[in-house]
Amino acid sequence: MEFFRLHKQNLADSGSYLDQLAIDVLTGLCAAPKHLPAKYFYDDVGSEIFQQITQHEDYYLTATEIEIITSIKDDLPGLIDEQEIDIIELGAGDGHKSQLIIESFLGIGCRVNFYPIDISEKAMVILHENIKPHKNLTVHGVIAEYFDGLRLVRTKSTNKQLLLFLGSNIGNFDRVQNQGFLRKLWMSLNVSDYILLGFDLKKDVSKLTSAYNDSDGLTAQFNLNLLQRINSELGGNFNLDKFQHFGVYNPVIGAMESYVLSTETQEVYISALQRTFSFAAYEPIHLEYSFKFAPGDIEFLCQQTGFEMVKHYTDSNHYFIDSLWKVIKE
Ligand code: AVJ
Repeated sequence: MEFFRLHKQNLADSGSYLDQLAIDVLTGLCAAPKHLPAKYFYDDVGSEIFQQITQHEDYYLTATEIEIITSIKDDLPGLIDEQEIDIIELGAGDGHKSQLIIESFLGIGCRVNFYPIDISEKAMVILHENIKPHKNLTVHGVIAEYFDGLRLVRTKSTNKQLLLFLGSNIGNFDRVQNQGFLRKLWMSLNVSDYILLGFDLKKDVSKLTSAYNDSDGLTAQFNLNLLQRINSELGGNFNLDKFQHFGVYNPVIGAMESYVLSTETQEVYISALQRTFSFAAYEPIHLEYSFKFAPGDIEFLCQQTGFEMVKHYTDSNHYFIDSLWKVIKE
C-alpha cells in the first residue's frame, strides 16, 4: 500500500499566489500604521526558522504542548473509539506531535488516515520523515492553505474525523476572526467529529516576552525573513540591517505583537508593485498577533461556534491548554 501521497492544491498556479502576495503587500504598506499578513512567514526558509524556534528553550509553547500530548495521547483513542479514523492536521509543522497521537490510535488496532495540511512543501518533506510507516497508516500530505486543503480532504473521506489545530496557531487570529474561523471548521465537519485545539494561556509577561524575543535572535530572523521574501519574490530592496525586530505584550487585547521597526528614515522600492514606500525613523510594520487565552475564553469560543467541550488538558505549569471539542449539529 502506498504510504505517502502528496497533493498540491491551488499552488500549481503560483502566478495567482504571487499576485495575492503583491496585493497584500501593497495594501499593508499603504496602510497607517503599516502591516503585513503573518501567513506569509511560512515560505520554505520561514518554516525552517520556525522549526528552530520551536526547539528553543525560550519558546516554551512547543515543549509544553508535547508534555500535554504525551500525557493524554492514550486517552484519545478510548474517548473517540473507532475502528478507522481520519486525522487531519492544519499547519502540521514537523509532525512530532502528530506522530504521538497517530501512534496511540495505531496502538489499539485502529486504522489511521493522516491528512496533514501545510502551506510549505519543505515542511511537508520534513514531516514525512518524522512519521513512521505502519501497515494500518496512510498519509496524504496536502500542500495548501487551510480551507483549500480541507475541501480536498472532504472529497476523499467518510470516516470519523479528528481535526488537530495545535501549537496555538489559533492565536494568530483576533477574537472576531477566531469565531469565523471555528464556524467555518464546524461547517466542514460532520456531527460527532472531534477537534483538538491548542491554546497558549495568559501568563507572566516576562515569560511571554522572552518567548517572542529569544536569546539567539531566531524570532528576529523569522520576522525579518518576511522582508527578505518580499525582496526575492517581489523584487524589493529592503535592507534587513536597517530594520529591527520588536516583540511586545499588549495586555489590553491579551496578545503578543510583533513588529519590525525601520531604524532610520529610508525608502524601499518594490519592483513588482512599481512603487516606493517611505519609512520614518522607528516607524513600525506590524507583522503578527499571538493572542493568549484565559480558560473561560476557550469555553466561550466553544459554545459560540457549535461545539461541545469534551475535555481541557493542561500541563504542570498551566502554561497551555489542549482542548478537545465535539461537533454538535441539530
Ligand atoms: C505558529 C502562530 C503559533 O504565534 O507563537 C513564533 C508563530 N511567531 N514566534 C506563535 C511565532 C513568533 C507562532 N504560531
